[in-house]
Amino acid sequence: MTVKDDRAEFKAETRRHSLAMGQDVTLFEEARDMTVKAGQHRYAYLWTWMGVPIIQMPSDIVVTQEIIWRTRPDVIIETGVARGGSLVFSASMLAMIGSAGKVIGVDIDIRAHNRDTIEKHPMASRITLIQGSSVAPETVQRVKDEIPKYAKVMIVLDSDHSRDHVLNELRAYGPLVTKGQYLIVADTLLGRLRPDQTPKNQASVWLPGNEPLAGLDAYLKETDRFEPDDEINGKMIVSSSPGGYLKCVRE
Ligand SMILES: C[S@@+](CC[C@H](N)C(=O)[O-])C[C@H]1O[C@@H](n2cnc3c(N)ncnc32)[C@H](O)[C@@H]1O
Repeated sequence: MTVKDDRAEFKAETRRHSLAMGQDVTLFEEARDMTVKAGQHRYAYLWTWMGVPIIQMPSDIVVTQEIIWRTRPDVIIETGVARGGSLVFSASMLAMIGSAGKVIGVDIDIRAHNRDTIEKHPMASRITLIQGSSVAPETVQRVKDEIPKYAKVMIVLDSDHSRDHVLNELRAYGPLVTKGQYLIVADTLLGRLRPDQTPKNQASVWLPGNEPLAGLDAYLKETDRFEPDDEINGKMIVSSSPGGYLKCVRE
């Protein structure tokens, strides 16, 4: 018996559902309210990747895997290293797709024990750590110096979440993203919370208007190089970064 090849149909159907989900405001708000409640138990802090704490929600990790698999970047630049899990994740993805690529991690404060974890990890050879404020000109220059000519470059911004910092990061790192690659702005959910839902159990409090989505919205008024990926953003209902996945569509 011949079984019908439904791969294209399946793909089209999943796309349709993702786009429809992106339009379902009630579902988004219910999921957001659940995410806020889970955040009281530091939900995003409960996961590890290859043994290293990664401060991301599982759906953000899975969708970043989808992006890396599809776009095959040579260099992934990440601002905000924390305990190193997201760097190890990206490096492991590059290893799994058979790329010779590398990950550049920037953080203002790379603590000795976190550096130790990263430098002793099996993925360490693919990771370059740069300590400094992500928006300091000397840091940006050090990052640029690490990018080989003609490399396909993807960026993940996950450091200081204030509007102006994110906007300045976007101005500094956005131009480094190459056509066809992705720009991920983390924690855009902060811009979609009611003010009473803003997490107060963290070192800084980022109220709507002074958070990553506000920085991203301002940046998108300055450039036409990036377009939100509606299929990806649509399905990110239990995510730190709904609306934070953008494709670079121009040189
Ligand atoms: C949310 S954590 C990063 C989480 C990490 N990406 C992960 O997924 O595990 C934010 C990090 O940003 C760093 N940070 C804060 N301000 C910064 C700045 N101006 N430049 C670079 N890093 C900064 C903090 O030190 C902290 O480690």
